[in-house]
Amino acid sequence: MLKGMLGLAAVCALPIPMSAAAEPATLRSIADRKGLKFGSAVDPELLDKPDYAKLITDQCDLIAPRNALKWNAVEKSPGKFSFGDADRTVAFAQKYGLEVRGHTLVWYDSPDWVKRLPSPAAVTEAVAQHIATTVGRYKGRIASWDVVNEPFEYDQAVLRKTVFLDQLGEKYMDFAFKAARAADPAAELILNETHLYDSGPVYTAKRQAVIALIDRLQSRNVPIDGVGIQGHIRPGHDTIDREGFGGFCKDLKTRGLKTLITELDASCRFADRLPQFTPAEYALPFGELIDIAEANGRLSSVVVWGLSPFGLKPNETPGPNKACKYRINLFDDALKPLPSFDAVAQALSGGA
Ligand code: XIL
Repeated sequence: MLKGMLGLAAVCALPIPMSAAAEPATLRSIADRKGLKFGSAVDPELLDKPDYAKLITDQCDLIAPRNALKWNAVEKSPGKFSFGDADRTVAFAQKYGLEVRGHTLVWYDSPDWVKRLPSPAAVTEAVAQHIATTVGRYKGRIASWDVVNEPFEYDQAVLRKTVFLDQLGEKYMDFAFKAARAADPAAELILNETHLYDSGPVYTAKRQAVIALIDRLQSRNVPIDGVGIQGHIRPGHDTIDREGFGGFCKDLKTRGLKTLITELDASCRFADRLPQFTPAEYALPFGELIDIAEANGRLSSVVVWGLSPFGLKPNETPGPNKACKYRINLFDDALKPLPSFDAVAQALSGGA
């Protein structure tokens, strides 16, 4: 009895930081300690939902509109701009002191009128107006832009066939980056690309092709500040090439470029190829990508493509892992952290 009371007294005497014990550290606070920024894609129609807004503002240093800044959203017909959703997103960021990544200016998934532009002059004029208007509107309020998105084919090492490439050759990229720099000289300008971390000859070739492209861009004084690594991981399909991806991040660093992880999430589609697959295994590549990029490159930010299933449609083909109802992010639909949350937290804090 006495022993029990003494024990209790001893416990009571301990200065327990209650709030720190009750609240797990946020990704934002962990990232900040390392000089990194953590963020998420957001959907403007959800910003008024209190639990959505709280999750975002608790966890994030920065947000990236998932769709609201795409050419398809802001300029559906030539010269007719509508920035409603983008304005709401940027206003939300300003209200809560978050940075914004602008996604994206030049992408193959553009309105049909863009895809049908008939001549080099018409493409040049459309890209010039689109970038001057969009980047100019948010000058000083959007810190970083995905200027060119997915210039390569998915799972291939060749430049994507688009109206931009057809009409202007690869110099459409020079033009886009220069236009973005002119519209907001302080904004960071990024080339964002898919599957640069995978194993296999195609991906080795793709990494080499991206570096060769960057060398050509830099030799032409194109203002590029970094490369965004889209992280749409496909467990059961992708394996990370630690050496290849690490070498790629080093190659960027050598060229004075940052590495950004821009669209981290995972699909359920190929998970049935993995024997005894568990949901915890989704966590491994999330942490691995961050670890490799940080160890080898100048990693500046990590952005997940949504924090939770908020705003996501359930998977049409959920696969054998019934827990995988949506693309995997960091929280489940009850907003409980998933193993991927811990993996990202650990990787951001520098623990391997
Ligand atoms: C996706 C969005 O998540 C979807 O809501 C939308 O329907 C299509 O685009 N690479 C990109 C992102 O650069 O813009 C894509 O986002 C996912 C792949």
